[in-house]
This record gives sequence, C-alpha cells and structure tokens, in this order.
Amino acid sequence: MGFLSAWLYSQLFVTPKYPTESFADQTIIVTGSNVGLGLEAARHFARCNAKRVILAVRNVAAGEKAKQSIEESTSRQNVCEVWELDLASYASVKAFAERASKLSRIDVLLENAGIATQNFTLAEDHERTIAVNVISTFLLGLLLLPKLKETAKQIPTAKPHWIIVTSEVHALTNLPESKSPNTFEVLDDEKKANMQVRYPTSKLLEVLVVRKIAPKLADSGVILNMPNPGMCHSELARELGFSAWLLKLVLARTTEVGSRTLVAAAIVGNESHGAYMTDGKVSNGALSAFVTSEDGQKAQEKVWLELKEILEKIVPGVTGSF
Ligand SMILES: NC(=O)c1ccc[n+]([C@@H]2O[C@H](COP(=O)([O-])OP(=O)(O)OC[C@H]3O[C@@H](n4cnc5c(N)ncnc54)[C@H](OP(=O)(O)O)[C@@H]3O)[C@@H](O)[C@H]2O)c1
Repeated sequence: MGFLSAWLYSQLFVTPKYPTESFADQTIIVTGSNVGLGLEAARHFARCNAKRVILAVRNVAAGEKAKQSIEESTSRQNVCEVWELDLASYASVKAFAERASKLSRIDVLLENAGIATQNFTLAEDHERTIAVNVISTFLLGLLLLPKLKETAKQIPTAKPHWIIVTSEVHALTNLPESKSPNTFEVLDDEKKANMQVRYPTSKLLEVLVVRKIAPKLADSGVILNMPNPGMCHSELARELGFSAWLLKLVLARTTEVGSRTLVAAAIVGNESHGAYMTDGKVSNGALSAFVTSEDGQKAQEKVWLELKEILEKIVPGVTGSF
C-alpha cells in the first residue's frame, strides 16, 4: 500500500484499542496535557489506576481545569498533579527536570507537547517550532534519562518508557536543510525558512534523532519509542487555516481515540524500542522512504551531531547520560 492509501485506510477504518491495562503503582508524566491528545492520554492513565499523573503544562490554570475534568470523569482524586513546564524556555525545562528528578520513580515520560505554526518567531534564539518540538523535547528527555534508568534498575517490575509523539507528516519533507553546512542555522534563518513544512520538519527531526539515540539505550532498561496518533481532532491546527480544518472534519479521529495510540506506546514492550508506531502498533514500515534511505541515514547522523552541540551548550554533559 502506498503512503496515501495506507494513511486513508488507517484514518477511515482503524480504531486503536481502548486501553484497559493497569498502570497501578506507576508515576507518569504527560507534557502538554491541558488539552488535546495529552489530556485524553492523561485521563486514560488516571482511569487505568496510575498512582501519579503529572500534567506538565505551560498554563497552570488550564492544567488545573484539566485535572478537575479528569477527576470528575474518572472519580479518582489526588492522582493528577499540575506542574509548570514551558518548552519555549530552557530555564523552565531545567527547573521541571530538576523537580521531576526528585520523584521516587518515573515509569512513563510521555513527551506529547508540540506546536504547529507557519509563523516564524524565535524562542531561545531558535525558530519556535524547532525549539519546542525538538530541542526542548530532547533536552527534557535527556535530563530525565538518569531517573528513567534508575527506575528500571531499582524496581524489578518497572519498564520505563520514554515516548516522543511524532506524526505521519514527517513524510512531507526530505529535510533539504540538512544539505547545508548546519541544518539548525538554516532552520533558524527567517529568510531561508520554509514555514509551510516547518511542523513536518520538526516531526522528521524527532524521528531521525530517536532512531539515532535508541541503540545507545539498548541495555538501559528504558524503552524509547515514537507513536504517531494519526490525524485527530485537537487544538493543534488552530493556526493552520481552513484546509487543515476541512481535512480534519472529514478524516480525523476523535481526540480520545487518537490518545489511545499514546497509551499503547506506554504499554508495548522492547519490540517498540527505537520504533515508529501507527494505530498503536509498531510499524517501522510506515516510515517515509527518506528516513530509511542512504540520504536519510546521512541526515540522521548529521542532525544528531548538530543537536548534540546545541544541547551541550544548554546543559554541558547532558548528552552523556546514555
Ligand atoms: N492532532 C493531530 O492530528 C496530530 C497528529 C499527529 C501528531 N500529533 C502530535 O500530537 C501531540 C499533541 O498534539 P495535539 O494534537 O493534542 O495538539 P494540541 O491540542 O494543540 O495540544 C498541544 C499541547 O502542547 C502544549 N504546548 C504547546 N507549546 C508548549 C510549550 N512551549 N510548552 C509546553 N507545552 C506546550 C499545548 O499547551 P497550550 O494549550 O498551553 O498551548 C497543549 O497542551 C503533538 O506532539 C503533535 O505533533 C498530533
């Protein structure tokens, strides 16, 4: 099946399984969980008996509302906690990670927060989509990696999951920026930026970096995977205009159904390590041809080295936690 027909089939005919597995005793962090897929995933975790669900949000008042909504729908009190996290600020990421490192365990780090915009603005001297979806996302994961590894080591029953939510739209670009001397410098240059595919570019970068670093974690006890929820109703397309709205109207999954794919990524075992997941199942075959091509491999090596340099400037030593 071609990419388009496989996507249409998935959107129209596949309904990911409703989660019923137990998350008893588990501590789960969901970034961007005040709305959208993150909120619905957090609701599933709370309903499925998680001990602590940390709603990592940039808007604490919105997080409190989300917490209230989860408590009302699940009748489980004192499970959700609202913690502030703004991925557009490295200081906020570092403060969050420092706080989360003091947790007794982290079973799931679901890195779901993300933006899709065609407007070029900067955050921390990088184009905002790249700063939020890529740089801060990996910064947070790497800062919490020691805690995930510690959880794996100290709790025999634990299988910590580090999850980066990606998208099938990673296939909409072959990252031409990676042909230039420095990929991120081109992405950060407003005159050269192709904002039409900036969100897909950020999702492709996530895919490449996960595939690059997963082998380094092979013996860590931590499962790193990357679910694609498919096209779902959420707040994501808020800036993307009429055509995105129309497409969603016809094809999108409900937010709740889409969120099942994120919960599935927290249940699946070692077979998902380093893998892309679609419809809640490991599906590396659904990656774009570019990702697995020779050019894609070269881009993967290059962008990891470049990202590593950026991350090391933010927190020296952070990429040494494998
Ligand atoms: N919906 C889809 O069709 C679809 C398809 C494929 C992949 N995805 C992926 O699924 C994930 C969730 O998207 P969604 O559709 O649920 O979108 P959404 O409804 O827009 O939710 C995104 C979440 O990210 C948060 N966020 C944005 N910027 C942030 C920042 N600087 N710091 C911390 N949190 C921030 C938002 O907070 P605010 O409410 O404060 O803005 C919100 O909670 C994203 O990674 C997206 O790429 C979605």
